Amino acid sequence: MSTEASGSGDASTATTPPMIKAVSADKYFGDLHVLKDINLEVPRGQVVVVLGPSGSGKSTLCRAINRLEPINSGSIEVDGEPLPAEGKALAALRADVGMVFQQFNLFAHKSIVENVTLGPVKVRKISQSEARTTAMELLERVGIADQADKYPAQLSGGQQQRAAIARALAMKPKVMLFDEPTSALDPEMVQEVLDTMTSLADEGMTMVVVTHEMGFARRAAHRVIFMADGEVVEDSTPEDFFSNPKSDRAKDFLGKILTH
Ligand SMILES: Nc1ncnc2c1ncn2[C@@H]1O[C@H](COP(=O)(O)OP(=O)(O)OP(=O)(O)O)[C@@H](O)[C@H]1O
Ligand SMILES: [Mg+2]
Repeated sequence: MSTEASGSGDASTATTPPMIKAVSADKYFGDLHVLKDINLEVPRGQVVVVLGPSGSGKSTLCRAINRLEPINSGSIEVDGEPLPAEGKALAALRADVGMVFQQFNLFAHKSIVENVTLGPVKVRKISQSEARTTAMELLERVGIADQADKYPAQLSGGQQQRAAIARALAMKPKVMLFDEPTSALDPEMVQEVLDTMTSLADEGMTMVVVTHEMGFARRAAHRVIFMADGEVVEDSTPEDFFSNPKSDRAKDFLGKILTH
């Protein structure tokens, strides 16, 4: 694991663009300024954990990266390409940027394996049989191949979230965004989802993870970004952030998290 904060990564990153690059990105909801001059580069293969108090803009940042929320000014690029505004290019971007939410958002009336094949068949134009083969491999990988023909409601929360991860991976994304993927889970199911995410990180996936799981942040993250009031207030290694937070807001946040 790299210990560099902004991480030059391997030698190939010298010639290839960062996987995610935000330049002076601003986002407003009406008068509310929720992302303030965000400048962020995530090299490929890096795992970034985003921390911060409620309302600091963590979800909005994730949603801006796959353009579920358009920004008002500045720019965001994924793998060297500016985010497309609409149409086929936007669908392709969404396929490249996998997203996993707190609520699993599986299609309730489709089986688990159907949930995983749907996107590749529709968006990636993969044949049904090939999509199914890949889906079964992915379900195997996240440990729920035996649940393939069940419906989401028949699975535990942890299994549903792993299905959601498999569904995102089926699109062969370049980057994965996780927005509090374990927050809706019963405690005993948190670890199985974190283990799935850790193995994904070990395989070199570029990941942006909003989470309150400090153990995951310490173990799996190359970098911690701390947000407050729409700004990136700290950007450092996990070791640095947890042992030596610089801002009062980060100290205050850590005090609350670690003592609650
Ligand atoms: N669709 C929306 N319309 C108006 N305001 C919004 C909308 N979505 C978010 N906001 C506001 O933008 C700010 C940032 O919200 P965001 O959801 O990004 O925070 P967060 O850091 O993810 O918080 P949490 O930890 O509670 O999930 C908040 O003040 C929120 O109320
Ligand atoms: Mg949020």
